[in-house]
Amino acid sequence: MKLVHNCIKVNIYGNKENPALVFLHGFPFDSSMWNNQIEEFMSDYFVVTYDVRGLGDSYVGDGQYTMEAYVNDLCAVIDELGIEKPIICGLSMGGYIALRAVEREKDRFKALILCDTKTEADDDTAKLSRADAINLINVEGLASYANKFIPKCFCEKSIKEMPEVLEDLINKASRQNKVGVKAAVLAMLSRTDTTKALKKIDMPTLIICGAQDEISPSEKMEELSEKITNAVFKKIPKAGHLPAIENPEAFNKAIKAFLKKVK
Ligand code: MLT
Repeated sequence: MKLVHNCIKVNIYGNKENPALVFLHGFPFDSSMWNNQIEEFMSDYFVVTYDVRGLGDSYVGDGQYTMEAYVNDLCAVIDELGIEKPIICGLSMGGYIALRAVEREKDRFKALILCDTKTEADDDTAKLSRADAINLINVEGLASYANKFIPKCFCEKSIKEMPEVLEDLINKASRQNKVGVKAAVLAMLSRTDTTKALKKIDMPTLIICGAQDEISPSEKMEELSEKITNAVFKKIPKAGHLPAIENPEAFNKAIKAFLKKVK
């Protein structure tokens, strides 16, 4: 079922009486990046996916929004669906949203799953690469940007073995709204550093990373997991930055094993 809350396109699956599991997608994707998880989890969980503001079918507006607005949207979706303490799972940019949400309002959440993400804010090199991204989108268009960036999200094996999946991601990203994509770039560029929040996290936490992720390397994610009390770290083989798509069997298995222990 599709709903719209706060101008955000929300998809819900399964029985609302079950524990809620909210998925936050990465950049420059949309909620369809979780298609391999919906089937797997909707029988035991109330699964919620949504398109982050500016992306997919959600409101684009003038593109003047920040990571804080993304967190406000997450809270609005949770409140308007009437969900009690969801488990949140964010990948990369979705992880930035989850980390800031937990830093700001940790009592709202029952458990946290962070995939292929980081707590550090952008340094100067990262800021300049965001500037290059915006420039490329302005000068050559989104398709050029998507063709340059998205293959870097896949490991070598996925590039060879899943060319049609990669092509589909590139095509979808190329059809996104330019203003919304550039807004996401600026929201990520201006996000705060959430490293200090890690030692305050006391909810069950799972840290997942594709073994060949070159954007958020697994060694860095393992270090991140060590800063959270009792966090579980799981490296997903045969995957780069998008293990939910590149190796959904191993990704879903890791989440299932973790969720069994979350009461
Ligand atoms: C993502 O996958 O969401 C992006 O790689 C995050 C980023 O660009 O920092």
